[in-house]
Amino acid sequence: MNVTHLECAACGLKHEARRLLNLCHKCGKPLLVRYDLERAKGTLTKESLPGRRADLWRYREVLPLENDVNLVSLGEGWTPLLEARRLGDRLGLNALYIKDESQNPTQSFKARGMSAAVSMAKELGATKLAVPSAGNAAGALAAYAARAGLECFIFMPRDTPRANVIECQQTGADVTLIDGLITDCGAEVTRRKDSEGWFDVSTLKEPYRVEGKKTLGYELAEQANWSLPSVIIYPTGGGTGLIGMWKAFQEMEEMGWIGPKRPRMVSVQAAGCAPIVRAFEAGERFAKEFPNAATVASGLRVPRAIGDFLILDAIRASGGAAVAVSDEELIAATREIGAAEGLFCAPEGAACLSALKKLMETEKVKPDDSVVLFNTGAGVKYLECFE
Ligand SMILES: Cc1ncc(COP(=O)(O)O)c(C=O)c1O
Ligand SMILES: [Zn+2]
Repeated sequence: MNVTHLECAACGLKHEARRLLNLCHKCGKPLLVRYDLERAKGTLTKESLPGRRADLWRYREVLPLENDVNLVSLGEGWTPLLEARRLGDRLGLNALYIKDESQNPTQSFKARGMSAAVSMAKELGATKLAVPSAGNAAGALAAYAARAGLECFIFMPRDTPRANVIECQQTGADVTLIDGLITDCGAEVTRRKDSEGWFDVSTLKEPYRVEGKKTLGYELAEQANWSLPSVIIYPTGGGTGLIGMWKAFQEMEEMGWIGPKRPRMVSVQAAGCAPIVRAFEAGERFAKEFPNAATVASGLRVPRAIGDFLILDAIRASGGAAVAVSDEELIAATREIGAAEGLFCAPEGAACLSALKKLMETEKVKPDDSVVLFNTGAGVKYLECFE
């Protein structure tokens, strides 16, 4: 076990690691896990990796779990980094890749975060887990909670894709649909959690989902033979994956695995809900709540994110960008990727292609850049969007 402590991402206050915690006791911002990386790299070496398990737990020394008996796994992570040559040729790009996260358990990258969070919740003694979700996080939590033998309470907007609602019910979760947005679902969890004895697993309101998600960054580096792409394009709601990758790059640099150069981090949002894009353009460190949020890409319908400053810091420090795309564009992009590469992407994932086109038009991405798009989920879960 290489965890030293938890640290507030805003004020730096240290918190004890071996307790169930949510936000910083002093300022209410997210907590991040810190490791003794000198110790971790004693056994976690690049050379040791090829023989390891083909899931995200291959990076065991930089994951927070103490005892393997608490590890809750369905085979998450180690998804393929697929070359998208036909699409790349069409766009005039020499190196275009898609990290296909639809191949995770429960068909989205949310499985990564929930494998880590549910394992830790189990280890630290939680019995009832609650989450507000745009859909895929709920499906993942329901599955991992069932796998762990824990109770699970899900709050989703009523118009969440049907597949997400049904998968939660069929994996034994208690599902409540709310007339409102994910922020309203979050408020309901906050209001009831103490009296109900729930542990709140909202993204970035507990410290471990981001640890699961950071393995995206480790995998990207390992699969590309320790040379990171020039540009990463990531569909951003709460931003946990982007924040996680950024953290992974820092850890890998500290272990001497990569140098200081970083990919340009690009946040994609839907034009109907683009708080991060607005804040980026306005030069602000914190994002204002986006009014009347609306988009068919349900995972991007997050009007306010508690990790906003971490997303914006990473975008700016990397020389990246924040791009909004319309629903028409992202739906058309789903079919374009599907027909060109054989991947039926979630609309959130397809939005990355629409953003890439805009970045090429303005020459923020050039033909010699290597680019990775994140397909964060599976199109089959969104049949309503394509009818
Ligand atoms: C398919 C999909 N892509 C992207 C996102 C946004 O992810 P994050 O909250 O990590 O920014 C979600 C969130 O629900 C999602 O379900
Ligand atoms: Zn703090």
